Amino acid sequence: MAIDVAPRADGPADTPVPQRDWWRDAVVYQVYPRSFADGDGDGTGDLMGIGDRLPALAELGVDAVWLSPFYPSPQRDGGYDVSDYCDVDPAFGTLADLDRVVDVAHAHGLRVIIDLVPNHCSSDHPMFRAALAAPPDSRERARFHFRDGRGEHGELPPNDWQSHFGGSAWTRVTEPDGRPGQWYLHLFDPTQPDFNWDSEDVLTFFDEVLDFWLARGVDGFRVDVAHALVKAPGLPDWGGRADGASSPGFPGHEAPMFDQPGVHAVYERWRERLERWGPDRILCAEANVAPLERAAKWVRPREMHQAFNFAYLHAPWDAVALRRVIDESLAAFGGVGAPSTWVLSNHDVVRHATRFALVDAAHVAHGHGFRADTPLDPERGERRARAATALMLALPGAVYLYQGEELGLPEVLDIPDDQRHDPYFLRSGGAVVGRDGCRVPIPWEAHAPAYGFNGSGSSWLPQPAQWARYARDVQGAEPTSTLALYTHALATRKVLGLGAGSLRWVRADEPAVLAFVNGEVLVVANLSDHPVPAEADEIVLESVPGAVSDGLLAPDATAWFRAPAGTGLTEG
Ligand code: GLC
Repeated sequence: MAIDVAPRADGPADTPVPQRDWWRDAVVYQVYPRSFADGDGDGTGDLMGIGDRLPALAELGVDAVWLSPFYPSPQRDGGYDVSDYCDVDPAFGTLADLDRVVDVAHAHGLRVIIDLVPNHCSSDHPMFRAALAAPPDSRERARFHFRDGRGEHGELPPNDWQSHFGGSAWTRVTEPDGRPGQWYLHLFDPTQPDFNWDSEDVLTFFDEVLDFWLARGVDGFRVDVAHALVKAPGLPDWGGRADGASSPGFPGHEAPMFDQPGVHAVYERWRERLERWGPDRILCAEANVAPLERAAKWVRPREMHQAFNFAYLHAPWDAVALRRVIDESLAAFGGVGAPSTWVLSNHDVVRHATRFALVDAAHVAHGHGFRADTPLDPERGERRARAATALMLALPGAVYLYQGEELGLPEVLDIPDDQRHDPYFLRSGGAVVGRDGCRVPIPWEAHAPAYGFNGSGSSWLPQPAQWARYARDVQGAEPTSTLALYTHALATRKVLGLGAGSLRWVRADEPAVLAFVNGEVLVVANLSDHPVPAEADEIVLESVPGAVSDGLLAPDATAWFRAPAGTGLTEG
């Protein structure tokens, strides 16, 4: 298991000029490597493609990129099933290609965060293979959660936990002698066995993994399912939902596989380890727990730097709900001295241009993904998505963007069943649509093969016929495009220091209007269905052209105004 953590022979290119706490107001752009840019034309995106396209992200104006997993993997869960933590999957390139991505990014002033998957590995990982080959009660098995089954012959799973992707969270193994034997725990797919974080071997293994990547020059880690590493002693039955959310009789905070007290010691240990490499390397938690005060536990001073704000991600386009989640976020994260993060889309959820297009929000209140026949109003979705982005980019704190949202991409709903890859779809027999629709390779050039994703025209998921209009080259030439809005908003946010600013609500006459001042900017978002008065001298930004006209702000629009100095705006 020993990992060679020697620094790269050539040394990573200098990181961007060190600046205290760069992450507090950073805009981080998530790259899903399979679908960003494909350098070798085999239909799967890769690191060569990413390296070549990084200048476009610098032009967009983000501060960092987060790369979803590129490690060797059987790809049973989009690379979140890792079979080697210290290498690159040949489908994505080589370690040298990764080094080039880091160097090109740094040369463009971009930091690089990589995805770390510590809750589980792939069942192809040598540690799990060794565990299968070893007897019960061995040190090898103690690195995972192996248990004897219940029932007379051990034929029943050890407890009632369910997998996120459906079915029991336990799979029974065939012992080396050919007999049915113990069971192992997997909160996700059976090919993703959970590590046992009480094992010293697992702790030291991940210490070395961290050092391996830090020595290569990465600027931090997004930590996958960061709330699940430590399980309650004895692995008790629970009966509640697989995702740890509350259900009748099962309060979410009691879920025995999430948010256990011991998990925080792991991140304190990692924080200390990162700091040995200087003050600028960061950890960001994917800790999907509610309410926000619980998520804030991951970003206490000695733990991680950032945590994703799932409450904001899931908030509807509704003024009361949004104001509440913004207030609660600032209070919860601020209460432990951390910035809030803001996010509208990622590789696990329906793209927000499509979420906001729902005609009837109740229509798809459950499950992942939308069915192709979901009633949608795409124009309204696009308009609201732009307004939501303009609102988000004016908030103080850090922001996570997901590749393609700057192009206004909608979810792809009509992927044929036989071309879907997501285990949510496959394990539920199609009952859950899954996440493929937000993972379709993104369009760069309107008139190139695969819209410039590569030169060959092949694509691991089919791209829709009408995507030319979203291509980056078309939008780059169009001053009113979604790409132009993002570029302008990011530049203005930076110049005016909005990410490092603060928020003061001001009174709006309508309950469906949000208005706040951040530094020199007055932000007004109209979530009602009619124009509302919005008077100010200088318009800094409009979410759609002509949003402000004759002193009125159009519905489903956001505008930034130069806040009148010493304004008479009333606190609201
Ligand atoms: C995280 C990832 C998701 C993956 C899961 C299991 O939630 O974002 O894509 O399926 O963890 O690793």
